[in-house]
Amino acid sequence: MCSKKTIVYVCLLTGLAMVLAMAGPSAGQNASTATEAPSGFDNQPNGLTDTAAFNMDRGKFEETEAIGDGLGPIFNAQSCRECHQNPVTGSTSQVKELRAGHQDNNGNFVGATATLADGTVTIPNRSLINQRAICPAVDTITVNGQTQTYDFAQTQGQERISTAETIRAFRMSLNTLGDGFIESIADQTILNLASNQCSATGGLICGESVRVPVLEASGGLAVGRFGWKNQHASLLSFSSDAYLNEMGISNRLPPNNVDVTRLCDVVPDPNDHTADSEGLNDIDHFARFMRATKAPPRDTALATSSDGVAGANLSTALAVTFATFPRSLRRHPAPPWPREPSSCPIPSATRSFIPTATSCCTTSGPATELFRPAARKPPKKCALLRSGVFARARNCCTTAAPSPSLTPFSVITTKPSL
Ligand code: HEC
Repeated sequence: MCSKKTIVYVCLLTGLAMVLAMAGPSAGQNASTATEAPSGFDNQPNGLTDTAAFNMDRGKFEETEAIGDGLGPIFNAQSCRECHQNPVTGSTSQVKELRAGHQDNNGNFVGATATLADGTVTIPNRSLINQRAICPAVDTITVNGQTQTYDFAQTQGQERISTAETIRAFRMSLNTLGDGFIESIADQTILNLASNQCSATGGLICGESVRVPVLEASGGLAVGRFGWKNQHASLLSFSSDAYLNEMGISNRLPPNNVDVTRLCDVVPDPNDHTADSEGLNDIDHFARFMRATKAPPRDTALATSSDGVAGANLSTALAVTFATFPRSLRRHPAPPWPREPSSCPIPSATRSFIPTATSCCTTSGPATELFRPAARKPPKKCALLRSGVFARARNCCTTAAPSPSLTPFSVITTKPSL
């Protein structure tokens, strides 16, 4: 959904809190005064709602939708719970979904063009590929209280993509428990974390934030924090997006108020249109459910195991190491480890070097993943002008000269002596 790779390393917040606590005070919540969020896989609310409201909202999140409710025409599952339930509703699961697309001539990601109905219907720029459809099928359904026959016996509704969509990724279903606490973090706190990361980690982690539209605020922007690409800042916006794109149920928040295809579409948009006695639609219940959940609990047995303790010590040691680097050494261009080797390196999975000599230019390894250690910024994208020719960003190769001598380069794992 977000083509630009702009990532705040939220998963590193814990380690970073330690780093920042040692590196100096930051605006926002002080780690030492923070109160632990209530946690537990116990199907109980965190205090935002009472148990009755929580159970009702959870029921909506667990509800199985059918064609008459607006399910599809293309979809991934019939209920939020199908992908968010392990060990309790709202959590994660083993279900992965398919994202696909390709790069244009400038190296930018373009969502796939999906085809339906034996290639006669196309949906352009759709990175999420739905794996189910409601047709071909014949059924009797109820729409707005009226019974009607649904007959699409000869219509192929399954989404297909061509081999031109060379980028494919399976994304795991994420946990939503405790997400209300993440939603409550002030934008500025995340911005501060992102801007402090580079100096606090000696340039190893340079987070970048992304501002995304909040659908219920008419597209006003806020710092993204949910989804693999931080594509949403609000749980209501995410619910609206997921209801349409995972289940095919259009709802009141544009752009999710219309189904993605008219093929086999028999239920008027928006499908989720009936407000209940509280004035809430399904998407409001989903959001309130997630906001009222407790955070996943800590596995205390694992945390006190020798491996767990070793991991915690390593994390603390890293924080101390970074915090005790002289400031001058924490900044690019003076990293406390050697610059790129003189021979042309082979990019490794964990660290890559952009060859500066033109003779080192090589197409091995995707250009977007090449970066310098200790660079202040995350990798800049090298535009692929033609095969083997990268331009635009500093340090991008500008000639297609083949690499004469590729020698393996081992990643430095020991602490550099100062
Ligand atoms: C077919 C599986 C599937 C279904 C059904 C599904 N989700 Fe998800 N959910 C995912 C996946 C996969 C992700 C990660 C998506 C991404 O970023 O590309 C996700 C991410 C999320 C997140 C972000 C969590 C975080 O902390 O980053 C929220 C919130 C969410 N889903 C809510 C919902 C709601 C509400 C529904 C029902 C309307 C729903 N999901 C239905 C698979 C699913």
